[in-house]
Amino acid sequence: MKVSITVNGKAVSGEIEGRTLLVQFLREGLGLTGTHVGCDTSQCGACVVHVNGKAVKSCTAFAADLEGAKITTIEGMNNADGSLGTVQQAFQDHHGLQCGFCTPGMVMSSAALLAENPKPSEDEIRHYLEGNICRCTGYHNIVKAVLAASGQDADQIAAE
Ligand code: FES
Ligand code: FES
Repeated sequence: MKVSITVNGKAVSGEIEGRTLLVQFLREGLGLTGTHVGCDTSQCGACVVHVNGKAVKSCTAFAADLEGAKITTIEGMNNADGSLGTVQQAFQDHHGLQCGFCTPGMVMSSAALLAENPKPSEDEIRHYLEGNICRCTGYHNIVKAVLAASGQDADQIAAE
């Protein structure tokens, strides 16, 4: 079957099977490999993208169900001039990544949080990112990055 969606502002379409997951369509159909697959149990959050503005684990959605949807992936999070977007820059500035495997999902979830709640508290950030697993950083610098991306003082939480 055919599916037509908008990805990072561009209309795209492709032939898919009914069982094709959104993450497969993005990575294998469109070559957008910034969206990662870190598990097969819908737990890690490495695959998070925005579907019509909401954070969604793209390994849990069938592409066939998304006809007409607007998708944003990590490739769509930079600025128009190609520089890092606000959340991406904050992750870089506050060392919110080490190996980077979880980072696309972390950035997409964090951006979705900030769209809903522009000045989240430390607790709200930690709660929102519960569905994103990082095997490297221990989360502390990720929380600092999200605080900074929201214009708050990243150093309001103690150094780890
Ligand atoms: S790949 Fe782990 S939650 Fe989607
Ligand atoms: S930075 Fe390595 S898994 Fe998060």
